[in-house]
Amino acid sequence: MEELKRPIKRRGFYVKMRLLHKHGRQHEKNLCFKYYKWVLWFSLTLYFLTSYFISHKPIPLSKTHFANSKSNLPSRALIESINTSFLQQPTNSNKGSLNDLKIYVYELPSKFNTDWLSNERCSNHLFASEVAIHRALLNSDGRTFDPYKADFYFVPVYVSCNFSTVNGFPAIGHARSLISSAIQFISSHYPFWNRTQGSDHVFVASHDYGACFHAMEHRAIADGIPEFLKKSIILQTFGVKYKHPCQEVENVVIPPYISPGSVRKTLEKATVTGQRDIWVFFRGKMEVHPKNVSGRFYSKKVRTVIWRKYNGDRRFYLQRHRFAGYQSEIVRSVFCLCPLGWAPWSPRLVESVVLGCVPVIIADGIQLPFSDAVNWPEISLTVAEKDVANLGMILERVASTNLSSIQRNLWDPNVRRALLFNDQIQEGDATWQVLHALSQKLDRSYRRSRVSTQ
Ligand SMILES: *[C@@H]1O[C@H](CO)[C@@H](O)[C@H](O)[C@H]1NC(C)=O
Ligand SMILES: *[C@@H]1O[C@H](CO)[C@@H](O)[C@H](O)[C@H]1NC(C)=O
Ligand SMILES: *[C@@H]1O[C@H](CO)[C@@H](O)[C@H](O)[C@H]1NC(C)=O
Ligand SMILES: *[C@@H]1O[C@H](CO)[C@@H](O)[C@H](O)[C@H]1NC(C)=O
Ligand SMILES: *[C@@H]1O[C@H](CO)[C@@H](O)[C@H](O)[C@H]1NC(C)=O
Repeated sequence: MEELKRPIKRRGFYVKMRLLHKHGRQHEKNLCFKYYKWVLWFSLTLYFLTSYFISHKPIPLSKTHFANSKSNLPSRALIESINTSFLQQPTNSNKGSLNDLKIYVYELPSKFNTDWLSNERCSNHLFASEVAIHRALLNSDGRTFDPYKADFYFVPVYVSCNFSTVNGFPAIGHARSLISSAIQFISSHYPFWNRTQGSDHVFVASHDYGACFHAMEHRAIADGIPEFLKKSIILQTFGVKYKHPCQEVENVVIPPYISPGSVRKTLEKATVTGQRDIWVFFRGKMEVHPKNVSGRFYSKKVRTVIWRKYNGDRRFYLQRHRFAGYQSEIVRSVFCLCPLGWAPWSPRLVESVVLGCVPVIIADGIQLPFSDAVNWPEISLTVAEKDVANLGMILERVASTNLSSIQRNLWDPNVRRALLFNDQIQEGDATWQVLHALSQKLDRSYRRSRVSTQ
């Protein structure tokens, strides 16, 4: 990752979350639930009505045309890109699949979490899954207010919202001490941490190298995962298929945070112009003259090679400068490049998929999120870092053979839904996938192990 999202207005259910958060006791739960069910019903009705009108606008079906390319995109891809049904609650409910998982959400002093929300960016930038998962859990059916009935304990600490006044990036230098003092708090106020040394406790570490809390790999590895987190379950964006010190902990690979609201807006606008007239798209840091940072080069020079080889190639739309409206470019593109940055993962992976652009993953060994729910080989292309100079040829071949089948697979609303975190949990969405992954780890639940030995 290397870029940050422009702040986008917070939407949705935060008020409700505050409500539940404050009155976190069982007897008040029913009252709150009644109230917010009504609000939910009302907002959903409103939303369905608006989306009805949006999805019934006429769609321009003119043949897509690429500069300098013989390939024609099937018109289906146009319809595909504007189907917003994945943003809505799916109709067939199947609650049993979470194994009746119960999760307790700690109530921590606000300095650990909600105080940071005074900066709007905190709940919208690409590390914001720490906020989104917290919100979704507070409203979820899987939440229990009785910690003695919980299988897992969620520790909501927002460590990514101390934005640097120099470059705007999250300064995560304080992450270790903030989490450590949160653990101090829960282990002195509740009996559950000491009981298992935290092995049934769940944290989010949504940074470049996850629970190693550093953006540069060699520093992340040198610092390692802090001792106090090593027994717990970490939800992290970082994942590779080989052994790596920053994933030597029980973990679930999660997608980076992309605001569902921004996706919805982009798709709604795309209904007016919906054409994929860009063949290959990339916008981001390029490093034309790559700097040697202690023997390491940004993106292992992959982006430099792309720039040198394809800047000026009319099939490629490569941009080096930030542009807040870049989602409108993704929705116009056939292939979207997702090369590694410092870390292998990138927010582009999610944006490409949800906006219907075929992600071209260039990050050797990357472990992609939720592979149970998302059949990545069917919806994306993988190009080895060493082959990046042949990108043009590789993509031409795909365009003339199996592009339309990849686009058809990308059409699956379940795939798109699985990569977005909603404030209100939806079956199959990213927070639901987290719960599903946790439900496969119930052997770590203290409560379950007690029940089964009795
Ligand atoms: C959108 O996707 C849903 C779910 O797959 C499908 O039933 C519906 O027909 C699609 N709508 C359009 C306009 O393609
Ligand atoms: C935020 O980060 C700065 C360094 O960039 C650090 O000096 C400061 O203590 C941090 N703030 C908190 C509350 O941890
Ligand atoms: C948990 O252990 C720590 C350190 O051993 C201790 O300070 C704390 O009081 C214990 N907590 C409880 C609730 O017993
Ligand atoms: C990068 O810098 C390191 C020293 O920091 C040096 O040993 C290495 O040879 C340099 N590599 C290149 C390709 O310039
Ligand atoms: C499409 O073709 C490429 C190579 O030409 C192959 O690597 C990829 O697995 C194929 N994908 C699908 C979904 O058929």
